[in-house]
Amino acid sequence: MSLESHRDELASTACALAARGKGLLAADESTGTIGKRFEDIGVANTEANRRAYRSLLATAPKLSDHISGVILFEETLFQDSVDALGEPGAPLVELFSSRGIVPGIKVDQGLEPLAGGLPGESWCTGLKGLQERATSAYARGARFAKWRAVLKISPEGSPSDLSVRENAWGLARYARTVQEAGLVPIVEPEILMDGDHDIETTAAVQEWVLRTVYRALSHCGVFLEGSLLKPSITMPGMACATPPSPELVAEFTLRTLERTVPVSVPAVLFLSGGLSEEEASVYLNGINQATTPAPWHLGFSYGRALQQSCLKHWAGHDVATGQQALLARARANGQASMGLYVPGSEPSDGAPLFEANYSY
Ligand code: 13P
Repeated sequence: MSLESHRDELASTACALAARGKGLLAADESTGTIGKRFEDIGVANTEANRRAYRSLLATAPKLSDHISGVILFEETLFQDSVDALGEPGAPLVELFSSRGIVPGIKVDQGLEPLAGGLPGESWCTGLKGLQERATSAYARGARFAKWRAVLKISPEGSPSDLSVRENAWGLARYARTVQEAGLVPIVEPEILMDGDHDIETTAAVQEWVLRTVYRALSHCGVFLEGSLLKPSITMPGMACATPPSPELVAEFTLRTLERTVPVSVPAVLFLSGGLSEEEASVYLNGINQATTPAPWHLGFSYGRALQQSCLKHWAGHDVATGQQALLARARANGQASMGLYVPGSEPSDGAPLFEANYSY
């Protein structure tokens, strides 16, 4: 199939994901990463427990009021659900789509050290066999895909020119490939929050990265109306002395996006990147309050900042309480994506979610 034959479908999927007042639930943690989350709550990382947890997500009442799409790990895309009594149920992917939540799939295969780059720099793997995997994910019901490239800011001079170019090119090759299989690419050039650099430094690096990414997308003929951007919120390094105000973050984030992201991209869906649940909502709210209006939907595609309370309340057995906690953060972020969130009005887990050198 060619990209041409998928154009209308790609644009309408991207538009559905960019629905007003909604965002994405990133539930595509690899088996190793979900294992770390489970360890924190004393749950064994077995297939049965991963199935049970993701069934909780797929059956949460009213989730689609605030969530337009869900990013799944490959295992989940091909897994059947269990009900609250542990009885086998429908495929998880069908439970999401029958509730009006568009299923997506993480297709990158993780990071590897970048030969020729600076210490700690990486490139993102997964292009080999991607066309076949994207085609089989589409056949199973997925309609969008995600690929997470990671850049870091360091006193040693990262990101290097090589790292920016390599990660931008990988994102562009991926985006073009999955569009040919009918999947909307989420283009995710994450800039890690590790470090003590100021917000001006992050903004300058992010402008460079985003400009390089959109140049590469153009080289590869990516159909922008059928794509979405998932950037970091423009923040100073985590080790910076004082946390910035939502107004300052909004000013720098919007300036960075306005200088680099084409208006033909329907939505910018931020990652939470180690912000706490409440911080992720407050900063998103500030960004939406400062727009007049922005040319894109400015929403969320949060992993940690949507699931932390849910995981703790579930703790391996309490499905209903876990679902309520998930719904509370989904509602908070849905409101924040319209600039209507009242800080502190929804329950949250205050625990810091930042992890140095985070892998997904
Ligand atoms: P966080 O919101 O936890 O950063 O994760 C989102 C994501 O999908 C990273 O690829």
